[in-house]
Amino acid sequence: MDESALPPKSAPEVDFPIDRVEAEHVSRREFAKFLCLVSGGMAVGSGWVAIKDKLFPPFRVKGEAFVCNTSDVPLGSTHPFTVEGSNIPFILIHLNDGTFRAYEQKCTHLACAVYYSPTHNKIECPCHHGYFDASTGDVLAGPPPRPLPHLDVVIKEDKIFVREPKHPAHSV
Ligand code: FES
Repeated sequence: MDESALPPKSAPEVDFPIDRVEAEHVSRREFAKFLCLVSGGMAVGSGWVAIKDKLFPPFRVKGEAFVCNTSDVPLGSTHPFTVEGSNIPFILIHLNDGTFRAYEQKCTHLACAVYYSPTHNKIECPCHHGYFDASTGDVLAGPPPRPLPHLDVVIKEDKIFVREPKHPAHSV
């Protein structure tokens, strides 16, 4: 490149001159090194994710875990809980139609705590205005990329239990 086509040099560049044409030139060898570094980094990252999943499998509820009594969660209200052996926050919701749902209380966008709004019958994330369907956990609006993870709710007499969902990806 012609040096005269470049903008005028600033004071520090005048005091400490560098060959700008040479400084801005990226050789094929340097570019190939850069590509190797990037693809090597991505390979190591993917390998780490695979190994981490094997070493630290995601938490699973064993059998049925007791949450509370039905009388503890009046219609339209919620009950936060965790399952023994895990500190993942869940929220039990007593929907206006009388059914119960259990969702992870972390937004699938950036993990803010979500809350149930009985007036809108939606689960809302205050951080970036994400909205989830309270009956299914599906994303209704906003940036969350996935539905809220859920647990199946089982009621025996007046006791509420949760267990791993039969259909983990969807359908509550
Ligand atoms: S963290 Fe919930 S919408 Fe961004």
